[in-house]
Amino acid sequence: MPLRGVLTVQMAMPSEVLAQISDLLLTHFGNRETILSVDPVGEGANARGHFVVNAASGNHYGLKLPVRGVPFGLEKEHLMATLACTLDAPNACPVAQTDRLDFIDLFRGKTVNVTHWLAGSKQVRQLSEEERRLVRSGPDSTVFRNQAGEWMAFGLLFGIGDRHPGNWVWAPAEKKLAMIDMEQSLEQGELAHYTWLLDYVERENARTLKLKSAEIRDLYDGYSQMLAKHAAQKSMVEGLLEANDFSKGFKSAYAERAPEEVLSNFLLALG
Ligand SMILES: Nc1ncnc2c1ncn2[C@@H]1O[C@H](COP(=O)(O)OP(=O)(O)OP(=O)(O)O)[C@@H](O)[C@H]1O
Ligand SMILES: [Mg+2]
Repeated sequence: MPLRGVLTVQMAMPSEVLAQISDLLLTHFGNRETILSVDPVGEGANARGHFVVNAASGNHYGLKLPVRGVPFGLEKEHLMATLACTLDAPNACPVAQTDRLDFIDLFRGKTVNVTHWLAGSKQVRQLSEEERRLVRSGPDSTVFRNQAGEWMAFGLLFGIGDRHPGNWVWAPAEKKLAMIDMEQSLEQGELAHYTWLLDYVERENARTLKLKSAEIRDLYDGYSQMLAKHAAQKSMVEGLLEANDFSKGFKSAYAERAPEEVLSNFLLALG
């Protein structure tokens, strides 16, 4: 399948298509890019409808039509990105929509999401041992956990599911973390989705010192920061949710819960 995808795309990449994608990226993201290639992403439950634009600048952009059957998945992914940008979530990846990408068979006549990927990033589950050590206990660890705390709050506030570490990306050189792939959202937020983050703290410390452990404090600080931004932007957030039938009236219990309570419950996973 991926091979067929490569051939289909590469054979159908005349210069006007490259120019069209380039225009799209300029219009939506303000970046003037020279496109090197468009390839299948090749992994993920939506792989059949997911392509990546590789630009000479080193930037990458996803072209995604969710096909795994989440109701309103396309619209939810777009809305979550808009909310993340509005709330200034760390390194939020903007998503634009287009219905002009006819050069990919599956996209003909369809609206697809175009995502500006986090530059220089890789999935958290694909970090090397050394990169993992740096975010767990090295000099990058506080900034990693602050950002993780912010995203954890965002995920709980908007009931985002499917939060495995393949749906978080980390750019080691720039120390930037982002949560991605948010099509499954506006559900009940679940602490269990984030338990794997506890692999990035010293567990014994966290178990005994709880919120007083410096590492849990890092998560807590990020969590509280996102909660405060959410409260400050209440009417803007409500306006974005009210604008669609699928998101209208959505409320998360986490908007009302104190960070102390949430983080304390979260730590119960340590046993
Ligand atoms: N914003 C982004 N920044 C960096 N890389 C990204 C971004 N979005 C997607 N990717 C890359 O593409 C891969 C697949 O993307 P995505 O998770 O959106 O697909 P999916 O098919 O919906 O996945 P899943 O199997 O988790 O449902 C990611 O794991 C990541 O490697
Ligand atoms: Mg994914």
